[in-house]
Amino acid sequence: MSTTETINFTRGVPANESFPTDEIAAAAQRALQKQAVAMLQYGPAAGLAAFREWLAQWQQVPVERVLTGNGSLEIVEFLCIALLKRGDFVLTESPSYDRALTLFRRNGAEIEGVPLQADGPDIEALEKILARRVPRLFYVIPDFQNPSGATCSGAKRRRLVELADKYDFLLLEDAPYRLLRYRGQDEATLYSLAPHRVLHMSSFTKLIAPGVRTGFMLGDPELLAKIGKVAEDTYISPGYFAHGVTAEWCAAGKLGPQIEKLKKLYAPRLDATLAALDKHMPDAVATRPDGGFFLSVTLPDGTSTTALRAAATRHNLNLADGLAFFPNGGGERFLRLPFCALTPAQIDEGVRRLSIAVREVKH
Ligand SMILES: Cc1ncc(COP(=O)(O)O)c(C=O)c1O
Repeated sequence: MSTTETINFTRGVPANESFPTDEIAAAAQRALQKQAVAMLQYGPAAGLAAFREWLAQWQQVPVERVLTGNGSLEIVEFLCIALLKRGDFVLTESPSYDRALTLFRRNGAEIEGVPLQADGPDIEALEKILARRVPRLFYVIPDFQNPSGATCSGAKRRRLVELADKYDFLLLEDAPYRLLRYRGQDEATLYSLAPHRVLHMSSFTKLIAPGVRTGFMLGDPELLAKIGKVAEDTYISPGYFAHGVTAEWCAAGKLGPQIEKLKKLYAPRLDATLAALDKHMPDAVATRPDGGFFLSVTLPDGTSTTALRAAATRHNLNLADGLAFFPNGGGERFLRLPFCALTPAQIDEGVRRLSIAVREVKH
């Protein structure tokens, strides 16, 4: 590993070598042989029938509870247009996924962040907010959260659902990393605890490849119909071609083995990140996730990520801006480390450079 090679601890992208290219090519050919017209023609905005049906069976829900889209993020945009008025109150975790924050903000929502703890949102802080003002929805990433890596405990999941029922707001559960658990036990989804209260979304972009732009939402059919109408008015129907290929690939039983392959590739990268932090930055306060794409580090007192980013660049290390993940400020000492697209050797060298940069800017 040369010390001049640039290392990017910036974006949460999958590893290039994880893409099942040959399988996708074969699935495309089979899908076109089976249903070329359906895949190549316009159709309902809710999704290509074969794909929706496969998803409904996989998720054990009626088909009218499934909406598909071109990735999951754009469904959030449609949800904002369909369900939010300007000035509506929206809660997110703090920190939260920066692109979702942008969408809520762009659609005129007033956002307040609920501090995120190692085991999920701070419930006491949430209850204080709820006593003052009830949101239209609370956007939560319960599994291997982006950007922190935190996973919400079972007890907090149950409490979130109780509070949503008591105060009458929606939970928007975003779970693109849920299936990438490298160890430990799954917690119940919010959706399984309260299908009447929760819109659950997930995506194949982390499981197959971002290029398939295939995501979905599960939830109340009336809400999904409203969201689907915005989708229809925007693009008529989603990318049926990619969805048909995804459906064929899934129906051929490829998803399970692909997830196993991803776990084999990514678990050592998570372990390498934790080991590198122990070795080069033993005093670092880091989350220790059991899966997903990210862990996060709280920098020592007096160390800002803004200064650190500049110092890291001088060592050919690129870091992401931590501030963008915080809806109401804060995050000056927050650093997200996405580990999936780096080899263990790059991770060790990257964390070594990080430790040098931290020493340089600490005062
Ligand atoms: C929490 C979260 N939600 C949604 C997305 C976007 O997913 P998609 O590619 O399906 O739009 C990402 C991508 O990084 C993410 O981290």
